[in-house]
Parts: sequence; structure tokens; C-alpha cells
Amino acid sequence: MPDIPQTECREAIALRAAGKAFALDDGGSVVALDGIDISIREGEFVAILGPSGCGKSTVLRLVAGLETATSGTVHIEGRAPAELAAHHRLGVAFQDHALLPWLSVSDNVALPFRVARKPVARDTIARLIALVGLSGFENARPSQLSGGMRQRASIARALALDPDVLLLDEPFGALDAVTRRHMNIELQRIWSARTLTTVLVTHSVEEALFLADRIIVMTGRPGRVLRDVAVPFARPRTPEALRTAQFHAMVDDLTRALEPQG
Ligand SMILES: Nc1ncnc2c1ncn2[C@@H]1O[C@H](COP(=O)(O)OP(=O)(O)OP(=O)(O)O)[C@@H](O)[C@H]1O
Ligand SMILES: [Mg+2]
Repeated sequence: MPDIPQTECREAIALRAAGKAFALDDGGSVVALDGIDISIREGEFVAILGPSGCGKSTVLRLVAGLETATSGTVHIEGRAPAELAAHHRLGVAFQDHALLPWLSVSDNVALPFRVARKPVARDTIARLIALVGLSGFENARPSQLSGGMRQRASIARALALDPDVLLLDEPFGALDAVTRRHMNIELQRIWSARTLTTVLVTHSVEEALFLADRIIVMTGRPGRVLRDVAVPFARPRTPEALRTAQFHAMVDDLTRALEPQG
């Protein structure tokens, strides 16, 4: 039997027949997503894989309440994503790290407290900065950090208010392989420490297999769900898990699924 962690079967995120069409300036439109059905349980870690332009970021932006579906529905804990976002229950770290250049690392990580008008929990911020390996850089400005360090600061910021749902769009895309592996192990540890429903968009099949309970493979034009694959590896996963024959077989299978069809 595959050793998948027992999570409560409460649904955290639900997309039902969700579609998104973007209006274009010339009066036409692009159908970015069509008939997306995704159900994510509370505490589950789901990775989304798919070719460039297939709509992965659009799915995440719908769940984050940054876009609204033009057909179907999107709910988090039975409510509209924008409502959860307004209550600061969503932690978001996207491709572009979006740190404020004039603020230090500490103040960037503290930003969600200020936005939520909550007292800044300095000990939480110090803990998160240590967690992402940025101790000693508390006072540095983003321009003084490497791309990977900026990305780690933005993940610390996404975790600042202890969100129910963490949404990550290619957070490690700019990192070198060694740092990326390290961040994967750290993210697994963060995720294991509490109930944190997580959706990760990634281009890395290995990263998806290392981190996720389930992998959704999308296909483009319009974006649809092609496959929904349970990841059978026991946790905690160690780098050795990446060297097993079963891991390699799944990498091959998913890589094939990502190749252009026809
Ligand atoms: N604001 C927008 N206006 C018009 N079209 C958009 C907009 N945002 C996304 N699209 C279109 O929707 C489709 C899906 O885009 P999306 O960014 O979700 O893809 P993606 O899978 O995240 O790609 P990548 O892997 O390159 O990040 C693309 O065809 C894109 O051109
Ligand atoms: Mg994207």
C-alpha cells in the first residue's frame, strides 16, 4: 500500500468546472482555462505541472482571489478566495518575488503584519528568517541579495501570518540546483510541522515528486487537467528517495505526460 499521510478529508480548495477567458485589446479573447475540476483536501500538498502557457499561474491566481473565474466556481473552505485573502488566511509567493526594494528583509517579512494591522511579532519574523536561511541578512535590502535569497525572503513573508493555505508559483525557479534541493527539504519540514494546505506550481518533475501528495498535470490551449497522480513515497522524504527506481520511473512517466501531444 502506498504510504500517503492520513489527512482529514475536509475539502480546503475546490475548483468546479472553472474557466477563465481573458479579454484582449482587439476585442477577441483568450480561453486560458476550461472546465477545471480540482479538489484539494485540508493539509494536502498538491503540485501543478504543465507546459508554459497552459494556465498554471491562472489557476493559482484564481485560488488567490487575484482573478475571478469567468465560468464555474472557485472556493476555499467553502468561501470566496477574496474573502480568505481579506482575512489574511492565504500566504502567497509568486514567480516575481515582489519584495519592496526600500525595505529591509526583516521589514519585508513583517509587511503582512502591517497590512493586516496586527502587532509585528518580531520573534516570529526572526524564526522565519532563520528558517529560510537568511539569518545575518535581516537588515539587507533586496538589491543586496541574490535572486535565490530574495525568493527565500518572499517565502518567509508568505508564512508570516501562519496562513491556512500556501500558494507558491515557481518559487525556486531561479535557484541553483543545490539551493533548490535544500529549499525543497526546508519546505517539506515547514509543511510537515502543521496543517498547511499547499499548492505549488513548478516546472520541475523531481521537485513535484519530492514535495507533493498529489500532482496535477495540465495541458494547454485551453488549460485543462490532463492527469491527477498520487505520489506514493513515504514521508519524511530524504534526498535518497530521489535515487530509487520507483522515483525514476515516475519522473519518466510524468516527463512523457508533459511532452507535446500528437
Ligand atoms: N492578464 C492576461 N491577459 C490576457 N491573457 C492572459 C493573461 N494572463 C494569462 N493570460 C494567458 O493565459 C494563458 C495561461 O497563462 P498562465 O500565465 O496561466 O500560464 P502558465 O502555465 O503559468 O505559464 P508559465 O509556465 O510560462 O508561467 C496564456 O495563454 C496567457 O497568454
Ligand atoms: Mg506561470
